[in-house]
Amino acid sequence: MVDLHDQTLRDAHQSVLATRLRTEDMLPICDKMDQVGFDSMEIWGGATFDACIRYLDEDPWERLDKLSNALPNTRVQMLERAMNIVAYSNYPDDIVEKFIHYAYKNGCESFRIFDALNDLRNMRIPIEKAKKEGAHVQGSLCYTISPIHTVEKYVEKFKKLERMGCDSLCIKDMAGMISPSRAYDIVKGCKDAGIKIPIDLHSHNTSGMTGLAYMKACEAGVDVLDTSISSLTGATGQPPTESLTAALQDTEYDTGYDMDLLMDIREYFNEIWKKYRHLHRDQALRIDPSVTVHQIPGGMLSNLVNQLEKQGAADKYDEVLKEVPRVREEFGHPPLVTPSSQVVGVQAVMNVKFGRYEKITNDTKNYFRGMYGRPPGEISEEMYEKILGPDWEEEVIDDRPASLLDPQFKKNKDKLEDMGLLNKPEDVLTYTIYPDIGLKFLKGEVEAEFTSDELPLEEPEEKEKKEASRQISYPWKGKVKIDGKEYNVVMNSKEKVRVNGKTYNVSVLFPEGEQPSASAVEANSQTQTQEMSGDEIEINSPMLGTILELKVRPGDNINQGEPVAILEAMKMENDVSAPKDGKIKNMHVKKGQDVEEGDLIATMVG
Ligand code: CO
Repeated sequence: MVDLHDQTLRDAHQSVLATRLRTEDMLPICDKMDQVGFDSMEIWGGATFDACIRYLDEDPWERLDKLSNALPNTRVQMLERAMNIVAYSNYPDDIVEKFIHYAYKNGCESFRIFDALNDLRNMRIPIEKAKKEGAHVQGSLCYTISPIHTVEKYVEKFKKLERMGCDSLCIKDMAGMISPSRAYDIVKGCKDAGIKIPIDLHSHNTSGMTGLAYMKACEAGVDVLDTSISSLTGATGQPPTESLTAALQDTEYDTGYDMDLLMDIREYFNEIWKKYRHLHRDQALRIDPSVTVHQIPGGMLSNLVNQLEKQGAADKYDEVLKEVPRVREEFGHPPLVTPSSQVVGVQAVMNVKFGRYEKITNDTKNYFRGMYGRPPGEISEEMYEKILGPDWEEEVIDDRPASLLDPQFKKNKDKLEDMGLLNKPEDVLTYTIYPDIGLKFLKGEVEAEFTSDELPLEEPEEKEKKEASRQISYPWKGKVKIDGKEYNVVMNSKEKVRVNGKTYNVSVLFPEGEQPSASAVEANSQTQTQEMSGDEIEINSPMLGTILELKVRPGDNINQGEPVAILEAMKMENDVSAPKDGKIKNMHVKKGQDVEEGDLIATMVG
């Protein structure tokens, strides 16, 4: 007999609906899902935590509590990224331990623990803590293809995880690229090596060969297969629960599940699919066997598409797909899963946009410093030098990265208390893991993108048409305000004006039609020229993002390459650096401000 582990409420919508499924659309079907008899259900963790507070104005802890209560007969699981928990960097041991404690307390009975780099040193603390709480612990290894990721290596590491006390194991094929023969070889290898605990295979439809891989895994003795209800599977989602159940019927692997019950559940999620139609993306729905070449996981693929669209670089999609494997090899073959998928993905986007390693993200630097763990393969000295500079050896750490971090729970608890925002201990974790958006959420300042009642949203084309009808036509001449002063200018696009080659954000003072005289425009342009003359240099935003921090103030001296601001884009931090030595004249952005590509960040005199 083979059992299924259902991923509908976590990975399925993370893979095909941008992680936006709301709790109120999950609860009504829980009773039926609870009756199926799944081995377990993953309902929490991964990107869902972030999405709850960032886009849905939902408390993730409440979601966990509600869902676990609504699924009393099913073991509910979270996906836990070792020392990254549910985010992208390492947290101190005390934060990881508190997180697991409160997750267990709120109803999480099983922890699928993995590390993006399969660095077992990063997995020890969460495994030990979850065991101590009394939870089921599933030790998970990211599946990937590379010259260094051999079947023997996987079997060896799985044996170590069994010895570390895990209750089950998981082959986590987050990119959906495991071939039937590799699935067979790894499962068989584990069984032959005497591993006694159950083995689970997690995969995605992406390559189109996953059904075959699941069958071969059955033949090799796999115990559990990961699936999702068909309505939310798509190409980047899991193989369909109903199809697998039907396929295994009357074989020695029969799950024994009730197909009528599964059809009821399917019908429910078919309606959900229609409600969330504004989030459907073509690329996430089409089978793409090229995944076996570019090895980009479903979640990362839909994120990349999204980010490229936002950056106005959707046409670069194919180039980026080609760049990713190159970057990955240069990074020592990390598996592509959050956060390493983000680090590699964003660096690949940068390389395509600005030239190879012309711009290096802070996260790439940290990866090379060893701040995510030990890269699985060798990295050339030349690459280290390219990323970290000639003194790179002094910067690379050899220890478990979180061992460098001081405890944080008590400190952050006090901070929240002082702000009057501490309602429950879980809030400290929300705040610690997502200091900016978490704080905004706790203050009640996050606005939900939509609630269930508002769905379905307008079709995007309809919305665009409406917006277009409200828009004035460009080029537009009129009065505008620049840094508090009024000018008569020509605007070539909405909210942006160019005066003497410089782009400004403006507020329109007069509506269309009230055009100032041409001479007035000229006169003011003249004034502007004089004011702006000299060796002034503009520092513009290289891409769309949010200003996380300002590193300098007007009057500060700055050297070439030093950051003037830190920009968060694609969930990664990027330095916006000075192009040459000089003095900062003015800062044109505030902390927390959203900027678009080309927006003026700072002016300096060089
Ligand atoms: Co997955």
